[in-house]
Amino acid sequence: MPAAAPRPRPVATTEVPAVGLKVENLCKSFGSLEVLKNVSFEVKAGEIFVLMGPSGSGKSVLLRHVVGLERATSGRVTLDGHDAALEETREHVCIGLVFQAGALFNSLDVYDNLALYLREHRIGNEVEIKEKVLHALKILSLENTGRKYPSDLSGGMKKRVAIARALVMQPQLLLYDEPTSELDPVMSATISEIIASLKDQYRVTSVAVSHDRDLALNIADRIGILMGGELITVGTPAELKESQDPRIVDFLHPKFDLHNPRFKKLEN
Ligand SMILES: Nc1ncnc2c1ncn2[C@@H]1O[C@H](COP(=O)(O)OP(=O)(O)OP(=O)(O)O)[C@@H](O)[C@H]1O
Ligand SMILES: [Mg+2]
Repeated sequence: MPAAAPRPRPVATTEVPAVGLKVENLCKSFGSLEVLKNVSFEVKAGEIFVLMGPSGSGKSVLLRHVVGLERATSGRVTLDGHDAALEETREHVCIGLVFQAGALFNSLDVYDNLALYLREHRIGNEVEIKEKVLHALKILSLENTGRKYPSDLSGGMKKRVAIARALVMQPQLLLYDEPTSELDPVMSATISEIIASLKDQYRVTSVAVSHDRDLALNIADRIGILMGGELITVGTPAELKESQDPRIVDFLHPKFDLHNPRFKKLEN
């Protein structure tokens, strides 16, 4: 065994329950820029929580705190009581992160992209790894793509490969950063369905950061809206649809200024 072999990572099985996430009075500043202002919310184990908000409102910064890539200025994030900022927490809790741009290794084919984590952390032998990788590819309807390279894939396929790669880790918490960005509406709906089905199949806790109103309203158990670093509301899709708060109404139903002379006039 190599001297500096990495420590085996925890792998959730069906017996390992999903984890709950708690964000408490989280504040984050970069110099004088206050990005997160006293943000608090809770995601229950097995729930799908979608964090929405305009560009620059702090969604990705918040997600980075959950995976321990960012240190809070004050407040904290915990996963079933374990501080997300501590390295040792990732020995107790298995987190899968689906990056916005996929973050696949271009020099590896799809199969090896998925197998990489399992090989690096010595999770199973090659036969077991093959079983896990093929299973994840099947769930994402990617059976015939194992020997393709990321450059051979469409944007929607890359997103699905990125989800499959997170899935082989059998995470207890799955985080998605803009899972449907740059996809056409049909593929966005497919990805939304996949996120919802993974919750049903694995009871994994899912947190998605997204601008996608349809994704949020269709699959979220609850939605939080961040604006200017403040969490202005948390509620179910039904509650948000009913909200009279003009900030929420404007965000969920943005209107064009019909009097803007640059916009073409619609007949009727
Ligand atoms: N490492 C950093 N140093 C300084 N400022 C940062 C850093 N990371 C993020 N910011 C700032 O924090 C703010 C929030 O950024 P963040 O990436 O969280 O936005 P976002 O809500 O994810 O936006 P988008 O929807 O466009 O992805 C922005 O003003 C950004 O410039
Ligand atoms: Mg972002």
